[in-house]
Amino acid sequence: MSLDVAVIGPVNVDLILSGDAPHQIEEIRNWFGLSDVTLNAAGSAGYPAQVFQKLGLQTGLLTVTADDALGSALRYEMAKLGIDLSRVRVVPGEISQIAIYILLFGSKKRPLTGRRSSHQPWPAPLDTADLGYLASARLIHIAGYLHYPSMWDDDIPNMLRDAKQRGQMTSLDPQFPLWPLEGRWLPGIERLLPYVDVLLVDQDEAQNITDLESLDEAGRLLRQAGPQIVVVKRGEQGALIYHADQRIEQPAQRVPENEIADTIGAGDAFDGGFLAALLRGRSVAEAAQIGTAVAAISVRGHGAATALRAEDTIDRLIERFS
Ligand SMILES: Nc1ncnc2c1ncn2[C@@H]1O[C@H](COP(=O)(O)OP(=O)(O)O)[C@@H](O)[C@H]1O
Ligand SMILES: [Mg+2]
Repeated sequence: MSLDVAVIGPVNVDLILSGDAPHQIEEIRNWFGLSDVTLNAAGSAGYPAQVFQKLGLQTGLLTVTADDALGSALRYEMAKLGIDLSRVRVVPGEISQIAIYILLFGSKKRPLTGRRSSHQPWPAPLDTADLGYLASARLIHIAGYLHYPSMWDDDIPNMLRDAKQRGQMTSLDPQFPLWPLEGRWLPGIERLLPYVDVLLVDQDEAQNITDLESLDEAGRLLRQAGPQIVVVKRGEQGALIYHADQRIEQPAQRVPENEIADTIGAGDAFDGGFLAALLRGRSVAEAAQIGTAVAAISVRGHGAATALRAEDTIDRLIERFS
């Protein structure tokens, strides 16, 4: 199978409750009411995989899923979109991860609770068939790497080094540690960065990875660690992009508050649009506009990819922005 993008990382189910609940704790205790309930295939790898696929890129997922009801739902939803699951592992006797967003009190992202999966987030070590699969993709996107200190071994750095030797494009959205981590987070991703073309983080992550307050200094340090392009996403303030000696300030599109369903997965939507545009040979500045446009569509629906329609392909978006 020849892929445009292979995404490696964890998947989980997001259960998103949205609506209006009383704000007083005494009232909440006795509250009974209806809300919107959305069950999404999700996760640091699951969300960008869906965005890439909906944008019209043939996407393959390298992940592990449980042999439970949520695992079946995950595989069903991803397969329905046309994502290639031929290397997805199904492990018996384990449980799927679920994140439960309770958007009943005004916030579009919190409170959040849930449970972790009991299995590995992606196949490790990668076997010969996995490596051949990855070698067939134009872009290898690693997602959620900082979530799992237990996975910070030689496997992914070696795979990325080989990918770069073959001339493949590589990208990383490391997210954040799920367990408290002493000191700066840089050691968690340092060994990957020499082989990463595009690093995408949000503002908090940039600061915590580098232990630097200034985003410009953080951007510079991260660029020196390897990536040609460093993207720092800043929610409704947009994004900063560091590339060669350029500093691009990309404003977000303004989306009226009452049109925002949630901002869950907005960063993954940005990643998908940005990387898809680069794969189509667009400039970094154009990719920033397209990433922003995809993120602005994303916040209008639940999770990263629900609001993307059939006409929101990367080729149509490129036409609109050039
Ligand atoms: N409230 C919002 N209104 C418009 N765009 C938004 C909003 N929140 C996020 N975005 C878009 O999503 C992108 C990524 O958002 P951010 O929340 O910073 O990433 P992450 O999800 O990785 O933390 C931003 O650069 C912006 O383009
Ligand atoms: Mg993010």
